[in-house]
Amino acid sequence: MHKGGCRCTRLPRIEPGYTVKMSGDSHKTFYLETFGCQMNVHDSEKVIGTLVHEGYQQVETVEQADLILYNTCSIRDKAEQKVFHRLADYKKLLAQGKKFGLLGCVAQQEGEKIFERAPHVAMVCGSASYRNLPQMLIQIEAGKQRVTGLDDRETDECFETEFTARTNPHRGYITIIEGCDKFCAYCVVPFTRGKERSRTSESVLAEARQMADLGYTEIQLLGQNVNSYKDPDCGSSGKKKTFAELLAAVGEVPGIRRVRFTTSHPRDFGRDIIDAIDAVPTLCDHVHLPVQSGSDRVLNAMQRLYTREQYLERIAWMKSAKREISITSDVIVGFPGETEEDFAETLSLLDEVGYDAVFTFKYSPRPNTPSLALEDAIPDQEKSRRLEALMARQKEIQIARYKRYIGEVVEVMVEGKNEARKQWIGRTSHNKTLNFTAHEESALQAGSYVKVKATQSFPNSLLGELMI
Ligand code: SAH
Ligand code: SF4
Ligand code: F3S
Repeated sequence: MHKGGCRCTRLPRIEPGYTVKMSGDSHKTFYLETFGCQMNVHDSEKVIGTLVHEGYQQVETVEQADLILYNTCSIRDKAEQKVFHRLADYKKLLAQGKKFGLLGCVAQQEGEKIFERAPHVAMVCGSASYRNLPQMLIQIEAGKQRVTGLDDRETDECFETEFTARTNPHRGYITIIEGCDKFCAYCVVPFTRGKERSRTSESVLAEARQMADLGYTEIQLLGQNVNSYKDPDCGSSGKKKTFAELLAAVGEVPGIRRVRFTTSHPRDFGRDIIDAIDAVPTLCDHVHLPVQSGSDRVLNAMQRLYTREQYLERIAWMKSAKREISITSDVIVGFPGETEEDFAETLSLLDEVGYDAVFTFKYSPRPNTPSLALEDAIPDQEKSRRLEALMARQKEIQIARYKRYIGEVVEVMVEGKNEARKQWIGRTSHNKTLNFTAHEESALQAGSYVKVKATQSFPNSLLGELMI
């Protein structure tokens, strides 16, 4: 177990696909369903790797499984409700002797209260306790009715494992920082994921090199707030790396062709990140920089710690980069007290920035968060109206923006084929889907990089043809 600043010195061993090591005659099976963000998706890859190493076998349906796990998300009320509905659905499977376990953010948030609400749950485990899963499962197998693994949110634990079952053999995630210290007024993450703790740059780079050796060409660095990455120790280079230095170093790992990172918080987003993108061609020219609102009054109430002007300054840095950087964002509508004027400022910000995509959400009150105490709730109908207006405006912006690609030749990583449409699916460095046609004899396969000429644009994707 790693105490004190997440100094993971043992190198993680990566397994593409997964080898099943059965202990004795055991044929324990598990089903795992994941809700939520990329952090959860990647945690699930680590959980699967860990369980498979313990002799469990992953199965595709709940009916086949001895153990049913949900890796849960609590970011909005709907996400949380989905989990409880799913649990209610599977009550009938209890009679067949199946065990249920809840992992992730709802598990950490609700803790032992889950046993009252869903008495058939046998295990509740927050993300900082996944390292203990094997021991917890032994207790369940030994007949213990209820097992919990929760932390105090002040934990230094992070979940590194030697066994990560990455599902895609070409691109994969690496966690560089866990938790969040920002405490935006609306957000549960600081309560469900605990305080920020970074991995050493040495361990991140070791994982990146191992991935490259295994044939991965694209890496996405993950954290709730990657910009506040703080290298916990100097390592053999004798110097702690900043986030921008780590990004550049991952981009320089031989064999790695694309590096992405998410999520960035505007407050900590430094110009050095743009300098790194300028200097290292493998760093993708895409930045996801959630703004949440275009109004200073709302940003202040949200405790986002920046103003519209400061946000736009960061956008200006991106626009002055050598390569055109594609910018995307998240926006919340209907935060308590958001007026029509505040909302109009968000709309005008969309025009001013010219985002390539915006993820839009209706404000959802969450447990423990400071904004629960705010008055002036916006009625749901009004939130829906604003959401639709925002999406309509952004759609117009995207229609205009995507046209800029027509006639351009861009490199894509091949992701697969849509057989029905006879089109290949590609992804650009800008993180755009570019579907394309190719001569039947073209020897294409997932994971390869090819040049494609864009011929048509849509609000969310492009169409093109393979260049020989
Ligand atoms: N760490 C990232 C995002 C984490 S959650 C960041 O700071 O940007 C992803 C998105 O969910 C947020 O950007 C926000 O737009 C949305 N979100 C978070 N809490 C929410 C809430 N209570 N109601 C509605 N949307 C929320
Ligand atoms: Fe939530 Fe804010 Fe942290 Fe993002 S930065 S995870 S929105 S508290
Ligand atoms: Fe959801 Fe937890 Fe991610 S609340 S968005 S799964 S950090």
